[in-house]
Amino acid sequence: MLPDSFIQQLKFACDIEQIVSPYTRLTRKGKNMVGLCPFHSEKTGSFFIYPDSQSYYCFGCGAGGDVITFVMAAENLDYIEAVKFLAERCGMTLPESDTDYREAKLKTRILEINKETARYYHNCLISDEGKGALSYLYSRGLTPKTIRRFGLGFSPNRWDGVINHLTEKGYFLNELEQAGIAVKSSKLNKNGKHTYYDRFRGRVIFPIIDIRGNVIAFGGRALDNNGAKYLNSADTPVFKKSRNLFALNLAKQTKRDSIIFCEGYMDVISLHQAGFDCAVASLGTALTEEQARLAVKYTNKVVLAYDSDNAGQAATARAIKIFSDVGIKVHVLDIPDAKDPDEYIKKFGSERFEMLLSGSANALEFQIERLRSRYDLQTDDGKVAFLKDFAALMAGIHGSIEREVYISRIADQTGVSKESINLQVERLRKSRDRNQKRKEQLDTAIRIGETPANKQDPQRSRNLRCALAEERLIAALYKNPDYIRVVQGKITPQDFTVDVSRTLYEVITSRIAENKGIDMIHLSGQLSPEQMSRLSGILASIPENPSVEEVRDYVSVILESKQEKTQKELAQMNADELKDYISSLAAKKK
Ligand code: UTP
Ligand code: MN
Repeated sequence: MLPDSFIQQLKFACDIEQIVSPYTRLTRKGKNMVGLCPFHSEKTGSFFIYPDSQSYYCFGCGAGGDVITFVMAAENLDYIEAVKFLAERCGMTLPESDTDYREAKLKTRILEINKETARYYHNCLISDEGKGALSYLYSRGLTPKTIRRFGLGFSPNRWDGVINHLTEKGYFLNELEQAGIAVKSSKLNKNGKHTYYDRFRGRVIFPIIDIRGNVIAFGGRALDNNGAKYLNSADTPVFKKSRNLFALNLAKQTKRDSIIFCEGYMDVISLHQAGFDCAVASLGTALTEEQARLAVKYTNKVVLAYDSDNAGQAATARAIKIFSDVGIKVHVLDIPDAKDPDEYIKKFGSERFEMLLSGSANALEFQIERLRSRYDLQTDDGKVAFLKDFAALMAGIHGSIEREVYISRIADQTGVSKESINLQVERLRKSRDRNQKRKEQLDTAIRIGETPANKQDPQRSRNLRCALAEERLIAALYKNPDYIRVVQGKITPQDFTVDVSRTLYEVITSRIAENKGIDMIHLSGQLSPEQMSRLSGILASIPENPSVEEVRDYVSVILESKQEKTQKELAQMNADELKDYISSLAAKKK
C-alpha cells in the first residue's frame, strides 16, 4: 500500500483533464468536460470529466473512476504500474515499500528465470536430446532462421530437466514454482519435503515475449497424442494471459498497415516466415478486450484470420464484436480450401496469401456471408427468411452508399427487386429512429441515478428508494466529510441494502474517522475498478451538494426500510422463533 502523503502529492501533480486529453478530444460543458468515450465506440460523447472530484464517468458504458483507474484501463496496467506511469509523467519517484520491493524483486527473479529457461530449452532443441523435436519443426516447414527468431525450444522428456539446470544456477525451487516452470507435487519425499517436477516435458516450446522483450511465459506443443496438444503457462506475477499477445513484440515493428490475428502459435510463425511479420495470436484463450486494446496501440486496422472450421467462425464473430466495442476497423479473411493460415501458406504460397489479404472482406461482408450460409436460398421460404435478417443488418448501417452497394448485390443474387428490399430496410430504419429517440429520453432518465454501472444490480432494484438514499448519502459524505457527524451513531454499514454501497460507505467513513483523504485517488488503492466506477457513477448522477436536511432524510429512509425489513421478518417467524427473538432482545438490554 502506498503512503497517503505520496498519493496526496500525486493528486496535486496530475490533473485528470490533462491525463485524459491525449486519449479523446474533450470539450467544455459548464464546469465539466465531455468527449467520446475511449472505452467503447460511440458517435456522440457521453464520457464526462469532473474536475471537481477529479473523476470521469461514461454514461454510455459505465466506465468510471479517477486518474489511476483511467490509466489502468487505458494503458492496460495494474494499480502499481498505473501509479508509476502517472508519477513518471509528473516527474515524481515512487517510494518503495517493503512489499513493493519484495514483489519487484520477485518479478525480476522470475524474468531472469524465464530467460534462462528459454535459453535452456533452445539448447536442448539443438542438442541430441532434441533431435526428434527439431525434425518435427523442419517437417512443419520452419527454417533454422525462424526457429532462432522465435527462440523455439524443446523441453526434455524428464521430470527434472529444467529444475536441475536452474537450481545449479542458484535459483530456488519455490521461485521456479512461482515462475510456472516447476510444479509442486503433493507428495513428500523421504525427508518430509515437497518434491517438484518440470511442468513442460517432451514438448516443443514457444516462448512468449512481451513488448519490452521479456520472456514472460511459455507454450508447449506435444509431439505425440498423449496429454493436451498445447500446454500454456498459467498466470504468474509477470504474466497475465488475457493481457498479452503472442508475437506482438515482433508485430509491433511491422511496416504493414494492419495486424493479423490468428488462432495458433504455428499460424503466427508460418505467417512471419512467409513475410507477414504483423501476425499475432491470443494465448490459448478467446480474444479478450484487453488484448484488443493492446493491439489498437500499434495499428488501426485488424485482420482476423481464424481457422475456417465452425469454432474459428464463432471466434471470428466474437472478435468482431470485441473490436467494434473498442472502436477499430476489422477485416475478415476467408481462407478457402485450408483449415488455417499455416496450412493455406503451405498449400498455396505466400503470394496467394498476399492476394487474400489485399482483398480481405470487411466485417459486414463476413456477417452477410454468415447469414447467407444459414438459409437455403433455393427455396422461397429460405429467401424470405434470409432477406428479413439481411434487411435488419442493413438497417443498422449508417452509410447510404454502403447500404446501396450491398442491397444491389443481394438483389442480384436473390432475384428480388432492389426496391422491395429497400422498402423493408427503410421501414426498419424508421422504427429504429423512433427507438433511438426513446432511448435518448431514457438516457436522460438514466442520468438521474440509473447509470449503466448500477442498472444491472438486482439488490439495488429490489428497494430502489433505499438504494438511492444510500447512494446520495455516500455522495454527500464524499462531497462534505463533515456530514459524518450527522450519521455517526445513527447508522452502520450493516444497515445498507446494496453490497457495493455498503463497501463504499464503510471505506469512506472509516477513512474520514482516521482523518485520511477520501478523494477518488486515495480510494483507488482500496477499491476495485468496478467499485470505483460505481462510485464515480454515483457522484456523476448527484451533482449538487446535498444539505444537512437532505442528509437526515437519507438516514431516515435507510432506517425506515431497515425497520420494514425487520417487521417483515418478524411476521414470518413462528412462535418459537419469536420467543427466542424476544428473549435475545431482553438479553441485550441487560
Ligand atoms: P490449434 O489446435 O488450431 O493449434 O489451436 P495450431 O496452432 O493450429 O496447432 P498445430 O498447427 O496443430 O500445431 C489453436 C491454439 O489454441 C491453443 C493454442 O494456443 C493453439 O495455438 N490451444 C489449443 C491450447 O491452448 N490448448 C490445446 O490443447 C489446443
Ligand atoms: Mn490450427
